[in-house]
Amino acid sequence: MVIQEILRLYPGVGFTVREALEDVQIRNKVCVPKGVNTWIWPIALHRDPELWGPDAHNFNPERFSNGVPGACRISLAYIPFGLSPRTCPGMNLVMMDLKVMFSLILANFSFPSRLIIIMFPSLMYF
Ligand code: HEM
Repeated sequence: MVIQEILRLYPGVGFTVREALEDVQIRNKVCVPKGVNTWIWPIALHRDPELWGPDAHNFNPERFSNGVPGACRISLAYIPFGLSPRTCPGMNLVMMDLKVMFSLILANFSFPSRLIIIMFPSLMYF
């Protein structure tokens, strides 16, 4: 849950891009013409209060206690490793790596029962 929350707030990849191979109509609202590249910004999806609730900007690993569907109104909006057949092939390796790395680090620290978390760096929209 902690790793999922870190990857939500600080996704390692800035953008993923998809090119429309044909005209795509989205809910009678948006038309993406063939050949247009769409830039998908994971951090914007990951911090949208409409998807994650009013605490979207807070570090709260518990939100993942029922998995991504329990944490986010639309599961497909959680994309630290991208989406579709082009999803990051390193995902499982990385998740395993991070668990090993965290256990090695945490084994060398002790924590007070009430921990105050100050998030840094904060997100700057440009
Ligand atoms: C925390 C670490 C990593 C993150 C957050 C990450 C994230 C991503 C993302 C977002 C994409 C784009 C997926 C898309 O376009 O939908 C991607 C693609 C890719 N990643 Fe990773 N990745 C990580 C580590 C790795 C590792 C360790 C490897 C290799 C061992 C790897 C290999 C690749 C490859 C080859 C692609 C291109 C896949 C394709 O276009 O078909 N990644 N990754």
